[in-house]
Parts: sequence; C-alpha cells; structure tokens
Amino acid sequence: MSQKIRGVKGTRDVLPIDTYVKDDDPWVRVGHYDLVEQSARDLFPLYGYREARTPILERTELFVRGIGEVTDIVGKEMYTFDDHGDSLTLRPENTASLVRAYVEHNVNQQEPETKWWYLGPMFRRERQQRGRYRQFTQIGVEAFGSPGPRIDAEQIELLDRWLRRLGLAFEMHLNTLGDAACRPKYRQALQSHLRSRSQELCEDCQGRIETNPIRVLDCKNPKCQEVAAGAPRMEEFLCDACKAHFAGVQEALQRLGVRFVIDPKLVRGLDYYTRTTYEAIATSGLGAQSTLAGGGRYDGLVRDLGGPDVPGIGFAAGVERMALLLAQQGKERATQPLVFIAPLGEAEAARADQLAQELRAAGLSAEVSFRKANPGNQLKRADALGARFALVLGDQELKAGRAKLKELRTGAQHEVSLQGIAGEVARLLGTPR
Ligand code: HAM
Repeated sequence: MSQKIRGVKGTRDVLPIDTYVKDDDPWVRVGHYDLVEQSARDLFPLYGYREARTPILERTELFVRGIGEVTDIVGKEMYTFDDHGDSLTLRPENTASLVRAYVEHNVNQQEPETKWWYLGPMFRRERQQRGRYRQFTQIGVEAFGSPGPRIDAEQIELLDRWLRRLGLAFEMHLNTLGDAACRPKYRQALQSHLRSRSQELCEDCQGRIETNPIRVLDCKNPKCQEVAAGAPRMEEFLCDACKAHFAGVQEALQRLGVRFVIDPKLVRGLDYYTRTTYEAIATSGLGAQSTLAGGGRYDGLVRDLGGPDVPGIGFAAGVERMALLLAQQGKERATQPLVFIAPLGEAEAARADQLAQELRAAGLSAEVSFRKANPGNQLKRADALGARFALVLGDQELKAGRAKLKELRTGAQHEVSLQGIAGEVARLLGTPR
C-alpha cells in the first residue's frame, strides 16, 4: 500500500460528519461553521455592511507597511514566498487587503462612507493549540469614512448582537490607544518605566521596550504583568480630542444598551490602531485562546497605504473559536435531508429518482438510496443522515401508487399518494403549496 499523505500541521479538515480533529477539541462539523457564517450573512447587511471578497494572495509589502514590521505577525508568522521576483504573502488578516482594495478602486470618490464585511481563510505560522491554527477563518467588518464615535458604538453593538444571537458567553472589553498627537508622549513615558525595570521582563519584552513597548502591556508572562501593572496608563496622556472620542463611544454604547468593561491592557497585536480598540472575550470553554473577536479604529492606515486621509474601523472574529463553542453547546445549522427514499428493486429505483426530482423541484430536500439493502438497514441510514421522513418503496407501493411516509423522530406513519408527493410532504409540514 502507498503511504498516506497527511494534512499540513495547523490546518484542519471540517467535514459534514463527526470527525475527531485534534486531541482536546470537541467534534467540529461544517454545521457549526455554517451556523456562524449564516448568522453573519443574515445580520451584517441589517447594519448596512456589504460583502467584499479580496484575494488570499497579496504583495508582502502590503502587510509589512499595513500591519507593522515589528509585530509578531510580520516578524515571524507570515507565509511568504518568491514568485519570479515578486514577494507574495498568504494574507494573515484582511484589513490591510480591504484597505488596499478601497484605495486601488478609489472608493472614497464614489461614496463618502463605506461598510464592507468579509469571510475567508487567513494564514499565520503560529504555534498550534486549541483555538489557534495556521489556517483559520475570519469573519470581519470594516467601515471607512466615519470619524465620529457613533460608528464605533454601532459596530461594537453589531458584534455584541451577533455573539448573543449565537448564544455565546463573552465579555466586551474596550480601550483607547490615543492617536498620533498623544501616543508618542505615552510611549516615551512607558519606555522609561520599562527601561527602569527591564531586568524583570521576559526576553521578548526586553526587545519590545525599544521596538513596540505597548505590547509589553498584554504579555502573558506574570513578571511582565507585574511590571505592566505599575506602568503609566494611556488615559493619563490622552489629548482632548481622543478623550472626547472615547467618552463619546462609551455614551453611545450606554445608549444602545451594550455592556462593556474598560481594559487598559487591551493594546492589540497590530500596529495600525488609533483610539478605540475592543475585543469580545469568551468567558468559558476556550482556555488560553479565548478572544472571539477583536478590532478597533485605524484612522491613519488608508493614508499610510497610499490613499486619502479617510478614517476606518473594523473587527474580525475567529470562526474556529466560535465553532468550537457551538460544538460544545451542540448547536449547528442543519443540513439533513427532509425525505429519505429507499427503493427495494429496479422498477422502484426508477420511480424513486422521479419522486426525489419532484420534491427537489418544489424546494424540498430529498435523498435517494443507490444501495441495495433491506428496509431495516435503509431506515437506519435515514436515521443516521438525520432525515425527517423515510419512504420505503416496494412493489406493493408502486402498484398502489401510495406509500407510508415514516416520521423518524416520532415513528408516526403517514399514508401519502405518490402522485403529487411534493404537495403531500408540504401538507405534512404545514406549508401547503
Ligand atoms: P486579530 O486580533 O489578529 O485581528 O484577529 C481577530 C480574531 O481572529 C482573533 O480574535 C481570533 O478570534 C482570530 N484569530 C487570530 N489568529 C488566529 C489563529 N491563529 N487561529 C485561530 N483564530 C485566530 C485582526 O486580524 C484584525 N484584522 C481585526 C480588525 C479588523 N481590526 C480592524 N479591522
């Protein structure tokens, strides 16, 4: 036998059937992903977000300039390769890509405010653990052209509503990182605090003092956390405009009834943020990788990527993490067939194909068995597929033009006419057509 070829580390197969993907994961099926994705498709347009699709491949420079050279993502996690002289990268996130598309197509000249949402795979070469993979799926939104705090609150309320609709338990964390006017002063103050206690910091954070001191604040190392606890706080350094913006976001959230906690350590891992940052953090079920979604405002990014001076704000959610929680709760989007038809012989098989065709034409899902098996085994198969009704079609049924439709959950038998089967099923469903 030839050797099996395994999937790449940090990637996952998501199948319609139960599959034990990684040791400590619950069974995540397509139905769990589907529930997350469909709920976004239903909800996001209610807030005016329209779907945008951009390529998975981008020029490496986009992420180096967009996300920031000293971030973990750009520094060590990107899948980058040479394409005949061009350096290309599998997107590690989608904000930079959407900004590129926004700038490339001069969208601001066509509309003053733009709201886009997206869904797709992202790639980061991270150490794999539960809820952290090398290929993962994000659903996100980006809003361009709205500088005031009301859009921040509207977007946070959207995230809040979405996660609640799915029944996920989380806490919404909120912070502000200031802007180009006030952050440099804060950075300096923070640096001098960190320099004075550099011996206590982990090796990574010692390096961060000069390159990206704000990231020391969210280091998980307990020693670094101790040093961070005594550090100066951004809020003491905010300029008046940033203070007013942050107050405006909080007031608007209160008006909309969104609960949140202020979290001064919420600094995010990407360099483009200004002012508002936020994260929805799961309160149980995920362990270390518990951030379901994160985002914030990036008022300088469009300009930094060669576009006009247009502000932006967005978030992205990790679909795998949400799917894991839904799997734990046993919630998924059903994709089961409505009617399972099991013909017992050749003539019955031909009729079964037509019956299935008629049901499908009426918008009802049907599955026909192509296997020879006895009625008992056919019913077992219907049950395993999660079908609502099973119809065993034998010689007698064919002759009589009538058959019993068995409701699998209750065991109830409904006699139906094969002629006009779609109408019969619709009648049973209470939706006559
Ligand atoms: P991020 O915090 O890097 O932000 O990622 C957002 C979410 O994606 C995380 O909260 C997490 O749920 C999920 N995620 C990230 N990395 C992984 C991974 N390796 N495996 C599984 N899930 C992961 C961004 O990507 C920004 N683009 C968000 C944003 C949009 N900011 C403004 N607009």
